Amino acid sequence: MPELQTAADGFLLDGEPFRILSGALHYFRVHPDHWQDRLRKARGMGLNTVDTYIPWNLHEPVRGSLRMAGGIDLPRFLDLAAAEGLHVLLRPGPYICGEWEGGGLPSWLLAEPGVRLRSTDPRYLDAVDDYFGRLLPLLDPYLSTRGGPVIAVQVENEYGAYGDDRDYLEHLAGLLRRHGVDVPLFTCDQPGDLARGGLPGVLATVNFGSGADGNLALLRAHQPQGPLMVTEFWNGWFDRWGGIHTTRPAADAAAQLDTVLAAGASVSFYMFHGGTNFGFTNGANDKHTYRATVTSYDYDAPLTEAGDPTPKYAAFREVIARHAPVPDMPLPAPSKKLNVLDVRLPQSAPLLAAAGLLGPGVSAERPRTMEELGQDFGFVLYSAALPAAGPVTLEVDGVADRAQVFVEGQPAGVLERESHHRALAFTSPAPGARLDLLVENQGRVNYGQGIHDRKGILGDVRVNGRRLQEWTSRPLDLADLAPLAFGRTDAPPVGPAFHRGVLALEEAADTYLDLTGWTKGNAWINGFHLGRYWSRGPQSRLYVPGPVLRAGDNEIVVLELHATTRMSVDLRDTPDLGPTEE
Ligand code: GLA
Repeated sequence: MPELQTAADGFLLDGEPFRILSGALHYFRVHPDHWQDRLRKARGMGLNTVDTYIPWNLHEPVRGSLRMAGGIDLPRFLDLAAAEGLHVLLRPGPYICGEWEGGGLPSWLLAEPGVRLRSTDPRYLDAVDDYFGRLLPLLDPYLSTRGGPVIAVQVENEYGAYGDDRDYLEHLAGLLRRHGVDVPLFTCDQPGDLARGGLPGVLATVNFGSGADGNLALLRAHQPQGPLMVTEFWNGWFDRWGGIHTTRPAADAAAQLDTVLAAGASVSFYMFHGGTNFGFTNGANDKHTYRATVTSYDYDAPLTEAGDPTPKYAAFREVIARHAPVPDMPLPAPSKKLNVLDVRLPQSAPLLAAAGLLGPGVSAERPRTMEELGQDFGFVLYSAALPAAGPVTLEVDGVADRAQVFVEGQPAGVLERESHHRALAFTSPAPGARLDLLVENQGRVNYGQGIHDRKGILGDVRVNGRRLQEWTSRPLDLADLAPLAFGRTDAPPVGPAFHRGVLALEEAADTYLDLTGWTKGNAWINGFHLGRYWSRGPQSRLYVPGPVLRAGDNEIVVLELHATTRMSVDLRDTPDLGPTEE
């Protein structure tokens, strides 16, 4: 494969002037059976390159292990990109932001009290060294200098928006070089952060969605020579629970793209295809108020979450064609979608009663955080005994992120980090009454100093001013639901419960699970964790990739944390990402 070089006024590929026309496609947000299809569509839009982050937390869920199979088989993704004739920009972080849980930093880093992430703190840096020491040799054959598709590698991610520890960036660049990464390195930053985030000798690039002329001028002022590159051209945006579905007109984004290309700059679309935050993988923001990102990462991109072309696909291809040759391919057709109404979920398993089947609890004087429990995602069930009968004011120091409170198994209220709740009042029926707090990790913060985001109950719990002691903390990561014993129910049980039903299909195809009437929880099909749903929206349907389904019987499991108006779900042939205006 050809080699990339930087010249005073642009890139060279094997000595010839070259413009990178790239799009972000995160393999970990797309079902692996769809990778080839999405890559081919990238080529069809006129792209010659794709870029991807690498999520450390999925690849090394336990320190010292490295996972690369199935949905995170990065070598396979790189092989497929190469087979489609695409170059690759690799963005291994280790911090990747991306609205991804914790910005991709594994939660086990936070088990160390006081650890300073994204710095030269040896407790962090040793872990980075170990991880890159395992990851990079595996990726070595994929560098273009060895005949692979990877033409350039990014150092960190928008570091200028976070810190000024130049030694940390130097260390990362040195680490990449020591492991044989001999393709060009680059950093990317928002325009105002270029000086803080840059590194001498490493190509600086810029991220923006609008104001192309001015922002490219800022990059040129910061870096008088070298290729102009927009590493993230934000053509859409992400959504948060409780907000609207954010969209951006194709014509507006296309006009900005035209300005970028007319300036001779290289570009990567953020996102070309957003995909989905399957399972518990969404991130969150916390600028005074905690806001979790939704399950869909559709991003209003050129391809929808299901890989269908949007008006942006045609508009961008047209703009690209003004500046570079585009393949003579017809617009891709949308994939077939299933529509099946009223799939009954007649069986259930109440969560509080079943919790013991899902994992052992840890007894201690204080509630343990998720990180202390060695748990990355999911819920923790905290249990203790109330000291007396009568009125109770329950105070919790640090709920991360949402605690449902139960007294003798009956719902007593909810404490939400997002709402800055700290206390709840209820009545204890008897001395020794059982108190349960089911605490959900709604996604670790992925941007800013808030990435030091530990989960569970973070401090003391007081009852009428006195610290409550003797706790059981039970991790519920819900990675394996097989131990659950389901029974037939005529009426929905009180409190959180799993609901199960069977969907008989003649053929598999993409579809959207509609959870209208349900309140909040998670859904699985054939053991594949589709993600979270929440009636507050904006999205009300979860994308189901066709390869998750099969001809014959399919098992649907829904964990409803509160209550449902119906014991059935629908599969719909259109998405519903919610209203685009307040
Ligand atoms: C920044 C980050 C990306 C992503 C976008 C917003 O540019 O670098 O990872 O978080 O913001 O979608």
